[in-house]
Amino acid sequence: MQLSRLAVVLLLAAALCIARASRDLDDSSSNRQLLQTPTSADCDRSVKHCTACRYQFYRGTVTKAICTKCDTGYAVKASGRACYCAPGYYTTENTAVSGQTGFTCIPCDYNNVCPGAKITAESSTAFAACGANKITTTQFAKSDRECVVKPGFGWGSGDTSAACDAGFYNPGYNTRKCTKCPGDLTTAGTNSNSTQDCQAPIGYYYLRGKAVACARGTYKSFVGNQDCSECPNGVTTAAGEVGKTSSSACTVLLAGYQFASAPTVGTTDATECGQDSYRTGEVTFDGSTAVTCTGCGNNLTTLANVTKATSPDACLAPPGYGWAPGGTNGAGVATLCPAGSYNPGYNREPCVKCGNGTITTAAAGSTSADQCYTPAGHGNRRDAVSGVLEGYVCPNNTYGRPNNTFGLVDVECTKCQENTHTLQTGSTAAAQCLTNAGYGYDDGSVNQCSYGYYNPGDNQNPCTYCGDGFNTTNSANATAGETGSDAASDCKLDFGYHLFGSSGAIEPCLRGFYKGFIGNGSCSQCPAGTSTTATMAAVAKTDCDACRPGFGTGTADGKIVLGSLSNTSCSICPSGTYSAGFTQGGQNCTACPTTQNFTGTMVSRKGTWTPEDCFGQFITNPDNEQTFLPWDYIYHDNATILALQSGQTTLSACQTNCGLDSTCQYMVFYKTGGPDGDGINKCYWRTTGADISAAHIVGDGTAAWWDNPDVSVVLFEIKEGAYVAYPKLLGETIGTTVTLAGSPSTSDFKAMRSACDKDAACVGLTHDVGGVWRAFAGTLREDTIGKIRVVGTAINSWVAEPTGTEENEGWSSVALVG
Ligand SMILES: *[C@@H]1O[C@H](CO)[C@@H](O)[C@H](O)[C@H]1NC(C)=O
Ligand SMILES: *[C@@H]1O[C@H](CO)[C@@H](O)[C@H](O)[C@H]1NC(C)=O
Ligand SMILES: *[C@@H]1O[C@H](CO)[C@@H](O)[C@H](O)[C@H]1NC(C)=O
Ligand SMILES: *[C@@H]1O[C@H](CO)[C@@H](O)[C@H](O)[C@H]1NC(C)=O
Ligand SMILES: *[C@@H]1O[C@H](CO)[C@@H](O)[C@H](O)[C@H]1NC(C)=O
Ligand SMILES: *[C@@H]1O[C@H](CO)[C@@H](O)[C@H](O)[C@H]1NC(C)=O
Ligand SMILES: *[C@@H]1O[C@H](CO)[C@@H](O)[C@H](O)[C@H]1NC(C)=O
Ligand SMILES: *[C@@H]1O[C@H](CO)[C@@H](O)[C@H](O)[C@H]1NC(C)=O
Ligand SMILES: *[C@@H]1O[C@H](CO)[C@@H](O)[C@H](O)[C@H]1NC(C)=O
Ligand SMILES: *[C@@H]1O[C@H](CO)[C@@H](O)[C@H](O)[C@H]1NC(C)=O
Ligand SMILES: *[C@@H]1O[C@H](CO)[C@@H](O)[C@H](O)[C@H]1NC(C)=O
Ligand SMILES: *[C@@H]1O[C@H](CO)[C@@H](O)[C@H](O)[C@H]1NC(C)=O
Repeated sequence: MQLSRLAVVLLLAAALCIARASRDLDDSSSNRQLLQTPTSADCDRSVKHCTACRYQFYRGTVTKAICTKCDTGYAVKASGRACYCAPGYYTTENTAVSGQTGFTCIPCDYNNVCPGAKITAESSTAFAACGANKITTTQFAKSDRECVVKPGFGWGSGDTSAACDAGFYNPGYNTRKCTKCPGDLTTAGTNSNSTQDCQAPIGYYYLRGKAVACARGTYKSFVGNQDCSECPNGVTTAAGEVGKTSSSACTVLLAGYQFASAPTVGTTDATECGQDSYRTGEVTFDGSTAVTCTGCGNNLTTLANVTKATSPDACLAPPGYGWAPGGTNGAGVATLCPAGSYNPGYNREPCVKCGNGTITTAAAGSTSADQCYTPAGHGNRRDAVSGVLEGYVCPNNTYGRPNNTFGLVDVECTKCQENTHTLQTGSTAAAQCLTNAGYGYDDGSVNQCSYGYYNPGDNQNPCTYCGDGFNTTNSANATAGETGSDAASDCKLDFGYHLFGSSGAIEPCLRGFYKGFIGNGSCSQCPAGTSTTATMAAVAKTDCDACRPGFGTGTADGKIVLGSLSNTSCSICPSGTYSAGFTQGGQNCTACPTTQNFTGTMVSRKGTWTPEDCFGQFITNPDNEQTFLPWDYIYHDNATILALQSGQTTLSACQTNCGLDSTCQYMVFYKTGGPDGDGINKCYWRTTGADISAAHIVGDGTAAWWDNPDVSVVLFEIKEGAYVAYPKLLGETIGTTVTLAGSPSTSDFKAMRSACDKDAACVGLTHDVGGVWRAFAGTLREDTIGKIRVVGTAINSWVAEPTGTEENEGWSSVALVG
């Protein structure tokens, strides 16, 4: 190629020399005829393709046209005698050839260079090609300098072109050498025409304008800016090497992966070691054999979420198992935690003992300290240094919890309360703490049984109450009680209590009696006339520290001398005095007070209790109302036989006349006319009749009048507990009969009276012939004034005096007047 190009150039040079010589000859002949300003036709005639010319003398007289401007594409020769092809044009004709008078200049074509040519001889050089892979960017190229390389080529030595090698590029249209790709990048082939063609070579990837070697475990087998490819799953490339260019470099199996069967290098994915297995280390494989994981074995497991284990260390004791070193493959051995120990598991620890002593678990294989428990009825203690709990059975006289206590928590055996005990060790509740003998529960606390209580123990009861009237002592007879009794047989009759009569009822000593020891035996009576201040259950003779009602000391200071108590310490109050009694330390009888406006002598029966039982001595001067007795009001009803006393229309007349008449028992004065309702005051008498035996009325103090079966007696209660009695007329019926509660025997006055006392309807009793008592009801007339006429020689001449002994107390205290 280069050789042929040189030949053309030489050929062109020869042709140009021939053309020049012929044209000089031609000029001298044609210019001789033209003398005036030449036209373009003249010019063209003179010089072919000349468009402007002028004449010029040539050798004296000869005028010749000299061309000054040629046609487009032509240039004027220095002599002005010819036009030839200008640079950038060329011709294919040759004027030197016979018959050819001119030639046509043709524009230089693309990728050629035309230096310009006068003659064909010169034309051989006039359109030389730029050369292989060299081009022009325009037509009319005049010089080699206008030849540049094509894209993908570089400027070669000797102004030739050369294809860009791989790793080089050239956009072309220049005269430079190919440019090397930057950053170790390369091109996929030769003739690259752009920096864009610079890409990561195989084994490399592209990163910010540079090539970076594929990391371990990756490879790239082509030029390009793509990422490197990963080796198959679980597989990598040789350690310490990078820039791998093929999957065939993926020959190392990662730890924790396996090939269950012989793999194909570069394509077979490895599988992960499953749960409870592992594989250690990387291993190079060649695809000829399987490479498998190792099972943990020996009850060992991996964590539930663990695969790809790379070490036997991943093999752990599962929950409820303990780990120990050893085992076939060195991963250790797991064995079930025995009862009393636990392991949360997934570790390489031995089972942890719950503690020492009786702390345990319900079964083997426990996984948590929460499964450790201190059994019911057990306690534990914690070692101060190690914190280890030691369980133990709660000892006697303590109790543990009712249920097992789970977890490693402190559990105490609780001491039973003082004075209680358990019957065995390992008690589980306070309910098993039983009383010691002689102690009892008392609102939560345990106390010694006090006087009058006992408890044999071994229970949770309060001390048992012996009952009212009991104290406690071991002795049959004692002067002091004892606390802490443990048997019912210790209950003895207390001070001040005795068994009453044949009924065996336990009763306090009545007022006036005392009992000064604990045990069987009866109450002793206070000396006659004395009594106790306490109402009952007196415990010593010195409790007889008062006179009975109706009795007085008669001493100067009115005091009883307790040290020498005797039947004479108190004596009965004489008429005209009274004493309420029961004054601690004793008291004198008190003189009856005079009643209002009464100036006469005040009298009372002996042994009177109250001033209300004091009466003025019966009327001596009936005309003087000032001396009237302030008689008591009584109830009575129509059944009482009353005799109307005519003419006695004043209270004083009525009373005076009754007082004067020995048959008048009492009078009733109706101020407003009484039952008649006629508005006139009326005086009625109740008179004693012939049937009333004086012998019975005037008692002798020895025989009780009510005991006489022949006499009917009417008994009125004139105030609370005070009665007035009078003999009843024969055949007289008083009031409506009342049936008393309990139907007491009608021959028993005490029983009848007691029942009448308790019956609001009963106002009195009658005593009828035959010794029969009858209770009756009465009606109260609000407008009635009744007054009692005392019949007899002396107001208290017939009333039995109190004896000072208990048996008569009560009844004899009633003020009986008749
Ligand atoms: C550069 O080369 C590419 C690929 O060979 C081609 O497609 C493209 O046309 C070329 N560019 C130029 C300017 O020659
Ligand atoms: C697995 O645990 C059981 C229960 O503790 C034990 O008997 C057995 O020996 C253990 N197996 C191995 C292989 O250690
Ligand atoms: C696996 O399980 C353990 C315990 O449950 C947990 O601590 C760990 O974070 C888990 N690991 C993963 C990767 O999930
Ligand atoms: C627990 O018992 C073990 C063995 O009987 C004994 O060695 C250890 O000292 C005990 N620990 C405590 C805290 O009592
Ligand atoms: C103890 O256990 C019994 C029976 O399982 C249960 O009814 C009771 O509630 C438990 N007591 C306590 C204090 O947990
Ligand atoms: C606990 O008390 C019972 C009954 O009193 C007795 O038999 C036993 O010996 C006592 N145990 C101890 C350890 O004291
Ligand atoms: C006391 O009297 C009661 C009833 O008569 C009798 O049962 C008891 O044995 C007596 N006690 C003594 C100590 O005599
Ligand atoms: C029992 O005996 C004690 C001691 O002697 C005494 O103090 C007490 O009053 C008696 N009675 C009762 C009911 O405690
Ligand atoms: C107890 O002693 C009292 C007074 O000493 C006596 O009266 C009583 O009979 C005695 N009782 C017995 C059962 O000994
Ligand atoms: C008590 O009565 C006696 C005898 O009637 C009399 O001598 C004495 O002074 C009285 N004492 C008082 C304190 O009234
Ligand atoms: C007692 O006497 C006074 C003065 O003489 C007189 O005012 C009064 O009414 C009298 N009382 C009676 C109940 O007669
Ligand atoms: C009492 O006598 C009056 C007058 O005669 C009479 O009105 C009244 O009913 C009698 N009362 C009774 C309870 O008989």
